[in-house]
Amino acid sequence: MSRKVFKRILVTSALPYANGPIHIGHLAGAYLPADLYCRYQRLKGRDVVYVCGSDEFGVAIVVRALSEETEPQAIIDQYHPMIRDSFAAFGMSFDHYGRTSGHVHKETSQDFFRRLAQHHHFVLKTDKQLYDPQAGVFLADRFVKGTCPKCGYDEAYGDQCERCGTSLSPAEIVNPRSTLTDAVPVLRSTTHWYLPLGEWQNRLEEYVAAHPEWKPNVLGQIGAWFSDGLRDRAITRDVPWGVPIPPEVAQDAGVSGSGKVIYVWFDAPIGYISATREWAERQGDPDRWELYWKDQASKLIHFIGKDNIVFHTLMFPAMLMAHGAFVLPENVPANEFLTIEGKKLSTSRGWAVWLHEYLEEFPPDLLRYALASTLPESKDADFSWKEFQLRVNSELADILGNFVNRALAFAASEFGNVVPHLKNPDVQDLDVLRQLETFPARIGESYERFRFREAVAMTMDLARMGNKYFNDRQPWNTRKSNRQACANTVYVSLQICAALSVLIDPVLPFTAARLRSMLRLEGIRSSMPGEGAEVSVGWDEAGAQILCDGVELGKRVILFSKVEDDRIKAQITRLSAGDAKPYAKPKDRIDYSTFAQLDLRMGTVLTAERVRKSKKLVRLEVDLGYTRRQILAGVAEHFAPSELVGRRVVAVANLAPRKMMGLESQGMLLMAEDREGHLSIVTAEGENGSVVR
Ligand code: 2FM
Ligand code: ZN
Repeated sequence: MSRKVFKRILVTSALPYANGPIHIGHLAGAYLPADLYCRYQRLKGRDVVYVCGSDEFGVAIVVRALSEETEPQAIIDQYHPMIRDSFAAFGMSFDHYGRTSGHVHKETSQDFFRRLAQHHHFVLKTDKQLYDPQAGVFLADRFVKGTCPKCGYDEAYGDQCERCGTSLSPAEIVNPRSTLTDAVPVLRSTTHWYLPLGEWQNRLEEYVAAHPEWKPNVLGQIGAWFSDGLRDRAITRDVPWGVPIPPEVAQDAGVSGSGKVIYVWFDAPIGYISATREWAERQGDPDRWELYWKDQASKLIHFIGKDNIVFHTLMFPAMLMAHGAFVLPENVPANEFLTIEGKKLSTSRGWAVWLHEYLEEFPPDLLRYALASTLPESKDADFSWKEFQLRVNSELADILGNFVNRALAFAASEFGNVVPHLKNPDVQDLDVLRQLETFPARIGESYERFRFREAVAMTMDLARMGNKYFNDRQPWNTRKSNRQACANTVYVSLQICAALSVLIDPVLPFTAARLRSMLRLEGIRSSMPGEGAEVSVGWDEAGAQILCDGVELGKRVILFSKVEDDRIKAQITRLSAGDAKPYAKPKDRIDYSTFAQLDLRMGTVLTAERVRKSKKLVRLEVDLGYTRRQILAGVAEHFAPSELVGRRVVAVANLAPRKMMGLESQGMLLMAEDREGHLSIVTAEGENGSVVR
């Protein structure tokens, strides 16, 4: 562990793409852990700035816009506020949540790029790249789909295979197709800026070697990149959506007006700097951001998911080294992935729990607790609704809620809702008070080491200790036999509640506030930005009997109600409903005259029988009003022949006859096929022979 003494901490969470809502996989990866850490640090009284924002450029946004037949600007304007607001409702305590489409970011990233260009940190290369002749654009990143050269998955994107996780370049894709038009790309010459990462490998290796305390999953990935050898990385793109490269840099290279933009993975981490600048401006101290980015006594921590490790531990540090003015990340505590009910999270298949939907059903703290208790800190972890229910009911309600309720109920019924005085405490009282004192430092150690699951479990142990103490002391007996012993029990229990109201605050901020108000505990440092850093009672003091005796308590409320089975069932049903197969791909457009060539007619099935030796075929006789037809339909696996007789159907009447199993089929019936492959008969009213159009 590095022994450097830091004066302030700058924390970032990966900027989420503004092309969809936030789901619990995001939360478990880069957001909740960072929020736990920042709230803890603020309670410690440390100078923390926590920034994040929407990542609004890049091909992912353009692809989303195309699929929704709209413009990228409309996509980010839809999702940026949605993401920002759902984060706020979840209790994310950002000091600033920005967006990369703002002018501060444009200026910051162009300045950064310009400086590296001026100091010759880039290499310019002209080579042949995939080009979509139909759309007239170069096919960067996700504009290309095809077969993964590593695992053979045939839906791999040009920048990454989502099955095996390998990062790719479009040229490596086997049988590439354009995601814009499905055209087969051609090769065309184009010039781009590259960051020669190989030139930084020695310095990066030294940098990483100085951080043996980084998480093993992070060091493991970095080691693999180093042994492969770092290569040049293109950091510009020919795409119509991004921060334009500085005009004079383009001019010097003779590519003025070619519309090149900065690669999204170059500008996004600079978004952390832009967000800090915006924060400083909002504080009315516009230069203050420099303290966090340029002073060596600032500790920079990036919270990310595992798919972002290479960018934050190698590419961004190399950019920062080349720039020269900024501090390097002190730690990059990346998390692994979260599965849901044992299956890989997939937004395209709808196998996800969306934050905004969750928040319509349950309070934020329940999810914060359930997730914090199962974070994928060192390996993939699973979220299940049953476990969520168990955590809420048998931990939050039965342990924490129950303990608080018992202590406060006794104070109300036996001591007039006033904190009783401690007098002549016995060995057990003193022992528990002594143990209580040790909790802040012990839990804090886990927070400092990014072991959040451990921190949360230890916090719950304090409530367990409280319950055990309360049971052992049996105040329901001493209330008559030894009034002072009863008072002492309630006093000690209330001090544990007070400590809990501070120590649970990072994970359960809303509950902690309610608990403090029940205890009328005021003057406690806040875990929110800019509140109460000057207040003297915070994390370190939490175990030191912070509740004054003789003080009247507030109104008692139930902290957690149990989650019933039917609400859990409803969530599981909702999840499975989202887990449908993808819709069939839309077909190419046709003009009306092509459609008008179809002769569709209403008819009635007169007879139906299975075709011998065929698994699929049924032979039908259909009355089309003006004629009768023999039609062979491939529906034997879906309908019994008897189910078909008498059904009103729509037939394609002018389909050229075809022979199947020795029989002639003189038309075709229309069927609707859903995503699971189930068929239903297309029907309408009207006499046989009616024209359908
Ligand atoms: O993977 C992602 O969702 C990216 N938008 C993360 C960017 S992190 C940072 F560099 F901004
Ligand atoms: Zn693959």
